[in-house]
Amino acid sequence: MMTLTTINTLRTKLEAARFAAAREGRSLKVALVPTMGYLHEGHASLLRKARAENDLVVLSIFVNPIQFGPGEDFERYPRNPEQDLALAEKEGVDLVFLPEVEEMYPAPTRTQIKVSGLTELLCGASRPGHFDGVTTVVGKLLHIVGPDRAYFGQKDAQQVAVITQMVQDLNWNVEIVPCPIVREQDGLALSSRNVYLSTEERQAALVLSRNLLEVQAGSQAEEVLTASTLREQLRKNISLEPLAVIDYVEVVSFPGLEPLGPEERVDDQGQDGDILVAVAVKFGSTRLIDNVILTKKVNV
Ligand code: PAF
Repeated sequence: MMTLTTINTLRTKLEAARFAAAREGRSLKVALVPTMGYLHEGHASLLRKARAENDLVVLSIFVNPIQFGPGEDFERYPRNPEQDLALAEKEGVDLVFLPEVEEMYPAPTRTQIKVSGLTELLCGASRPGHFDGVTTVVGKLLHIVGPDRAYFGQKDAQQVAVITQMVQDLNWNVEIVPCPIVREQDGLALSSRNVYLSTEERQAALVLSRNLLEVQAGSQAEEVLTASTLREQLRKNISLEPLAVIDYVEVVSFPGLEPLGPEERVDDQGQDGDILVAVAVKFGSTRLIDNVILTKKVNV
């Protein structure tokens, strides 16, 4: 493939291992930003944070087949490596790891990483096996690149919780750095999948951010809100949008992902830890996720 940029790209595990070996003993902080490509401003924000906090920034671009279920969009997932490399160069990325599927999964591969408990609910309920695919590929990428820190967007809040748990459970010496959701001016959370939306669907999808951001603002107001009221209100408001087909609307603890009891309060005064308000909703054939985290107010 022709590249339009001069950025360093690695395509094999061996090249990546040589890179890892070359930095041995040089006490350089290395960041990994794992992505599936088709990069947007959300990815750029991860790269910028990684750039600011580390000596070397490695971007991986790999559309990971094993995290897509049957009938999902693996084949049609948007890809544009030329544009991605240009963005990587603009953001000061040092290296791009761009492996082929055969490079990451030479047959036969029989080992997977599974984080139990955190992966059966929310997106895990509607996408069985999805998180096993994510943890397996992230585990492989962490081992191939050997970063000190790895950066993930908080839009996939469940993914952040699952990967953090994996790294803790397996005693891997890497810091998982969650980064805030980046939104369009009108509120839509950035996602590579937004490209699938028709004009009408994109307009309809604003129902998610509008309601979630309202919940976030409301939780800081004086009103007493229980988990069940919040769930019902959100469901009702999202259902008012005719193109929205709800997969889930959930209120859980974060990062433990424990469902909140119906009478548990989610306002600042009532909660005693962070709360994730997460939704997954289909617009046409496109399933979007979005969330807000309600953070406990520390009374001083
Ligand atoms: O969030 C993503 O883009 C993917 O799930 C990840 C972390 C790159 C693993 O394939």
